[in-house]
Amino acid sequence: MKKSINITFGTSALQNLKTELTAKQYSSVFILVDTNTKKHCLDHFLNQCPISVTAILSMAEGEENKNLRTCEELWNDLSINGADRNSVLINLGGGVVTDLGGFVACTFKRGIDFYNIPTTLLSMVDASVGGKTGIDLGALKNQIGIIREPEGVIVTSEWLQTLPFEELRSGFAEMLKHGLIANPNYWNTLSKIKELSPHALEPYIKPSIEEKTKVVLEDPNEKGLRKILNFGHTLGHAIESYYLTHPTKPRLLHGEAIAVGMVLEAFLSIHCSSLSSTTAQKIKEIFQTFYPKVTLTTEDQVAILDLLRHDKKNKGGRINFVLLKAIGEPDVDVEVPQELFAKAFEFYQSTP
Ligand SMILES: NC(=O)c1ccc[n+]([C@@H]2O[C@H](COP(=O)([O-])OP(=O)(O)OC[C@H]3O[C@@H](n4cnc5c(N)ncnc54)[C@H](O)[C@@H]3O)[C@@H](O)[C@H]2O)c1
Ligand SMILES: [Zn+2]
Repeated sequence: MKKSINITFGTSALQNLKTELTAKQYSSVFILVDTNTKKHCLDHFLNQCPISVTAILSMAEGEENKNLRTCEELWNDLSINGADRNSVLINLGGGVVTDLGGFVACTFKRGIDFYNIPTTLLSMVDASVGGKTGIDLGALKNQIGIIREPEGVIVTSEWLQTLPFEELRSGFAEMLKHGLIANPNYWNTLSKIKELSPHALEPYIKPSIEEKTKVVLEDPNEKGLRKILNFGHTLGHAIESYYLTHPTKPRLLHGEAIAVGMVLEAFLSIHCSSLSSTTAQKIKEIFQTFYPKVTLTTEDQVAILDLLRHDKKNKGGRINFVLLKAIGEPDVDVEVPQELFAKAFEFYQSTP
């Protein structure tokens, strides 16, 4: 991975992209959008960055399309439109478009340049930083992929105007996570936000990206430090998968699931690390001001814990957690006794 990450901010960065692309003398320029970003973002992008485009490539929106079939269609589209090794792909979309588009670019003719223009809050503060590209293999998320930094990432908050509120709130959970694992001041500031809106969140996007960038630059291949980014994700992923595979359950977005996961793991941190119960309680209260409580029956909890035990990331039957010693002080590779899980759910369900 490159030792620096080329992330630029604001409308001016979008406008400068034209100069950068011209200077690089690409043989052809492709833009990848999904159904929603084609509708909401493409015209604005082309107004700000009036480049001559060889073809607009489009995919259906949604995680269920982050797969090999879509890649094959896009490789074909590139091929039919004469893409060569000196072509460039601009991924304009959320994490699905940037993950999949990045992978398509990394593999087409053994790799062409690509740029990411994240259009969801989650993709701005998370998916666009760290060079992970990839696709799902059946139900298994992100099983196939490559770590490679894009030529550039351009972050501007203007896209958030058309983003559904739930998607905005989902991305906000990753920002709260960055505060919890790395920066108490940032956590305090975010926890005081009164109303989640693009305008209110805009000033905090860059600091969140900076927190993730610091971690990723130190540990690009997830050998150690990068694990801290998984806070809330061990239980959060199990809850997310449970909701996804359960037809009677409502839709639960990634950030909504990890918001639950972070409260549960804050509780585990009291018992298996040195987090004070007052701080864990405070963490729970903050999450509950932003996220409606998810009702998890005993049956749900059993099924979620079953998924947790079968998580492929467990090593030798051990489930390792990233917990908190204090806000801003993560504790990695902590093993949690299984009898604590039921108590963690109780803590989550109880009113403050
Ligand atoms: N590479 C990484 O390090 C990394 C990190 C976190 C997440 N991810 C991946 O990111 C994906 C989730 O990203 P996401 O939450 O952005 O999902 P997403 O790309 O599916 O976007 C969410 C929804 O918002 C729509 N949308 C996007 N921009 C919009 C806009 N400006 N206005 C209106 N609608 C818009 C999309 O079409 C989609 O329906 C997952 O596949 C996850 O695995 C990757
Ligand atoms: Zn996440």
